[in-house]
Amino acid sequence: MSRIIGLGYYAPDKVYDNAYMEKIVETSDEWITQRTGIKERHIAADDEFTSDLATRAALNAIKDAGITAEEIDLIILTTVTPDYFTPSTACVVQKNIGAVNAAAFDLNAACSGFATAMTVADQFLSNGTYKKILVVSADALSKATDYADRGTCILFGDGAGAVVLSDEKGGILSTWIGARGEGGDKLTSLAYREDAEEVEKRVSHDKSTVWMAGSEVMKFAVKIMAEAAEKVVADAGLTWDDVDIIIPHQANMRIVESAAKRMGITTDRMFVNLDRYGNTSGASIPIALCEARDAGRLKKGDKAVLVGFGGGLTWAAALIEY
Ligand code: UT7
Repeated sequence: MSRIIGLGYYAPDKVYDNAYMEKIVETSDEWITQRTGIKERHIAADDEFTSDLATRAALNAIKDAGITAEEIDLIILTTVTPDYFTPSTACVVQKNIGAVNAAAFDLNAACSGFATAMTVADQFLSNGTYKKILVVSADALSKATDYADRGTCILFGDGAGAVVLSDEKGGILSTWIGARGEGGDKLTSLAYREDAEEVEKRVSHDKSTVWMAGSEVMKFAVKIMAEAAEKVVADAGLTWDDVDIIIPHQANMRIVESAAKRMGITTDRMFVNLDRYGNTSGASIPIALCEARDAGRLKKGDKAVLVGFGGGLTWAAALIEY
């Protein structure tokens, strides 16, 4: 009962390419390309924060929807790099865009944030509570990256993606969200908790950075992405033949390829832009969705599977009709 009526994204101008990464850590363009498929990532300026990226993406989505900010009833913003713990980044965006009639809250499902927020939004739209919801996923992961850790710093980039959802029939056909908290220690970012063991794991011993057991997260990702994607297709009573495009979380080309293989589909049915953005956390799916539409790969009436995984550990998938 909810349809995407507007799409928008934003990525900062500054770019770190693989040649730059070679200068700051012991790595090579060849290693990064073969192991991840990433060539460059966008990086926020020192005075540019998650809410700034989110605001630009939100304004682009609102313009694309052809509505005014006053028409929005709710803003759900997903991020793991908020400007503040309070106010929520959703409230900062509400102020910035003048969505004076909107309720606003942040949601944390890490890289699974976008499809999770779509799932939540769909409930409010389907039960008649709201008519228009803005979902924004934004992260400035560069602020939380340990640039001495070659296992993570080559992966992350900054960006934001947004959609306006309206209470129209069709749209979101099925969703599945899930969590496996026992794997939470595989991908961590510390808040107030004192945890010497966690700090010790970080190459720079800097509490404010993200740490990840990369290959273990990768194994989880391949399995769960295939399982989640297959489930939303089956739950909608469809088969892969009915699906026009798959938009996976843009973490690593090897994950995308292995997940496609498990799903029994060819990789060319997936939309991939991770070579130009790296992993932008929750923003990766809406940025890709927007680029797929702009490239003519997602047309009105097309069916798309959105599927992500991430910290928590979490996963989220949605089958949508655009
Ligand atoms: O949004 C959710 C976030 N999670 C993810 O995206 C997780 C995805 N995980 C990955 O993308 C991969 O695990 C990585 C790309 C991070 C690493 O690839 P891998 O094939 O799992 O490599 P590995 O961690 O098992 O490391 C293999 C080797 C190690 O060297 P030794 O111990 O074999 O000598 C690493 O030290 O590769 C080394 N290595 C690097 N070498 C050159 C790790 N990072 C680099 C690097 N350049 N940047």
